[in-house]
Amino acid sequence: MIQAAVLGYGTVGSGVVEVLYKNKDLIAQRSGEEIEVKYILDLREFPGDPFENKVVHDVNVILDDPEISIVCETMGGIKPAYQFTKDAILKGKSVCTSNKELVAAHGPELLRLAKEHNCNYMFEASVGGGIPIIRPLNTCLAPESIEKIMGILNGTTNYILTKMAKEGASFDEVLKEAQEKGYAERNPEADVEGHDACRKIAILSSLMTGKNVRSEQIYTEGITKISTQDFAYAKHLQKSIKLLAMSERTDNGAVAMVAPFMIGEEHPLNGVNDVFNAVYVTGNMVGDLMFYGQGAGKLATASAVVADVIDCAKHQGKNVPCRWEEEDVTLCDMKESKRRFFVRASMDDRGAAINSFGRIDEIRIYDEEFAFITEPMAEKEFDTRLNGIRNVLSVIRVED
Ligand code: HSE
Repeated sequence: MIQAAVLGYGTVGSGVVEVLYKNKDLIAQRSGEEIEVKYILDLREFPGDPFENKVVHDVNVILDDPEISIVCETMGGIKPAYQFTKDAILKGKSVCTSNKELVAAHGPELLRLAKEHNCNYMFEASVGGGIPIIRPLNTCLAPESIEKIMGILNGTTNYILTKMAKEGASFDEVLKEAQEKGYAERNPEADVEGHDACRKIAILSSLMTGKNVRSEQIYTEGITKISTQDFAYAKHLQKSIKLLAMSERTDNGAVAMVAPFMIGEEHPLNGVNDVFNAVYVTGNMVGDLMFYGQGAGKLATASAVVADVIDCAKHQGKNVPCRWEEEDVTLCDMKESKRRFFVRASMDDRGAAINSFGRIDEIRIYDEEFAFITEPMAEKEFDTRLNGIRNVLSVIRVED
């Protein structure tokens, strides 16, 4: 019998306990041993909860119990999750987490410590919720040089953008409704400003390069400026607007960014809607792959944590290698990367746009403005040309 503990009895933590008990028998078969939750750490009491007698308030009860070999960290945030994780690993206890903020900030250090203490630090649930992507990158795709990763990695923003597209509603209206329904946080900044997607692509980029990609280095733009007019043009062009997180190997090194993109009708990420996430991976041998599923939510995310628990159970006393070194990667300047851009400007600037960009295929939907899509060019060159236009109404990058 393996004894486990869950740190944080919120949405994901209670989901982990539920998955472990609902699928107890098949999990025991697949792990080779039964897994029992001995403790649940939380500041709160849970009167009436079937597991209320397992709740403890002092992490040392868990850390000092030699029977505990696996800890699920579902608290989120850096403090105190970082210290609790480190202390558990230093005692040889494996830790499975859904905490992308902690993985992005301290992943390689915690992986090194786990290796030194013959245990594991696993983080399948930190990116894409229930979508298996960390283990596939580490194991199934081990023979590949991963050339590109492109993903819709945030469910909240994908839900908002899908609603805006379908209902013609404004960002503020949809955000308010999403908050009322509990799909968006009361403080939605981490989601709508792209920080959550940025942490997730930092983790994937680190696995792609094998070194440490710091999230602060990644150019990040959120979705707050996307308007109903932008969606009217997208519809006309048969494109969707999605918040994309991407990371790519180039001749000069890796480039990573998070920003809204207009996506062509034929693109596999075009039809990823609502709270769903998808990760599109290009390997140099296997070609293109797409992983799709629920990027958030109680049982989907908990299932990914429990997949790690099973892996840890199968590798007790043995470290499963994960190629993510502590050395920081210096990313290439994203201003060197090339793409097409959708531009909207006031009618007064039509001449200026032609002067700056040469011949343009004008798109007209509203009387007082026009739009066009540029030829492919480096971001740097685009910025220079765009300077020639005074009243730019919006710019959205294009992925065909
Ligand atoms: N806030 C995140 C999202 C939760 O909306 O995708 C899952 O990481």
